[in-house]
Amino acid sequence: MVGSDERQKKNTMPMQLGPYSFDRPLVLAPMAGVSDRVFRSLCRQHGADYAPSEMTSSNPLLRASAQTQKRLEIAGENAPRIVQIAGAVPAEMAAAARDCVAHGAEIVDINMGCPAKRVCNRLAGSALLKDETLVRDILVAVVSAVSVPVTLKTRTGWSRAARNAVQIARIAEDCGISALTLHGRTRECAYQGEAEYDTIAAVKAAVRIPVIANGDITSPDKARFVLEHTGADGLMIGRAAQGDPWLFARIRAYLTDGTVLAPPTASEALETMRAHVSALHAFYGEDLGMRIARKHAGWYQQWLPQGSAFRAVFNGLSTALAQTNYLCELGDSLFGLQHGEAA
Ligand SMILES: Cc1cc2nc3c(=O)[nH]c(=O)nc-3n(C[C@H](O)[C@H](O)[C@H](O)COP(=O)(O)O)c2cc1C
Repeated sequence: MVGSDERQKKNTMPMQLGPYSFDRPLVLAPMAGVSDRVFRSLCRQHGADYAPSEMTSSNPLLRASAQTQKRLEIAGENAPRIVQIAGAVPAEMAAAARDCVAHGAEIVDINMGCPAKRVCNRLAGSALLKDETLVRDILVAVVSAVSVPVTLKTRTGWSRAARNAVQIARIAEDCGISALTLHGRTRECAYQGEAEYDTIAAVKAAVRIPVIANGDITSPDKARFVLEHTGADGLMIGRAAQGDPWLFARIRAYLTDGTVLAPPTASEALETMRAHVSALHAFYGEDLGMRIARKHAGWYQQWLPQGSAFRAVFNGLSTALAQTNYLCELGDSLFGLQHGEAA
């Protein structure tokens, strides 16, 4: 008989995060400025199993900012609601975790992966990987501050010469972290070159907590390759989901039984973009929502005929109403769509 340890190793057991159970989850990556509540909900409708929030700072002064307060808005999302925190002071991280839970977080995710100078100069994000004692102190402080599961997202190390993800993973497991997401690049790599998956495979082999593989997963084929190569329990997808929330369903179908789903038609893409843009206007208010909508519309252009002309016009529009009207007119002219109807 195959024991539960053996099944966990062979990756045939569902992944457990506290009370939540997932079968090879597909996770939307936290992306500051992109994966807000609106985009998270959209990706989850299209098959993402869960979606941590954009990073929120643990610094009490920054937590009061309008931006952080917006990022903490998770009401109405499907469970599990996950808020990500970043910082380098254990007591501040513990307080931030408690605050997230008070705001309704059902899981707290710790960011030790961000390469941004703004974060790293304050010794947070991936800069923490240099100091394993501090990593332990932060993890212990956060895990003991809250009763919900705490997860960790990190990179493979500080630099190619200092790939310490296996040590960090062992520390995480030891401190009671419930799952680990690993981006297959070091801090030094930033976003250059290609993600590598050997270190993720080594981490998966070294710990018993679930490991989610991340980095450059852009297609169903690549998803299958990364799962097989690493033995990971699930996959996290970031940039490839921008303008393509359908990617989760395409990957899921392919992993399940090899089905190759067609990408969205232009009219489906336009209808989804129209709903997405309206939801951004409602979530952020018209002015900020209009500016954030430009970014997402630029990513949807890949599905539209004459996408670059579309983008140029859309970026020139300066009110939420003008954006809404333009998308309605475009639907009418391209497909004879009535408002709110996919052809
Ligand atoms: C615009 C942008 C913002 C990001 N913000 C965060 C963040 O807030 N927290 C975090 O842990 N990672 C953040 N990341 C990193 C992603 O979560 C992910 O690890 C990385 O993009 C690699 O995955 P991908 O190749 O699928 O995009 C961000 C990435 C991008 C492109």
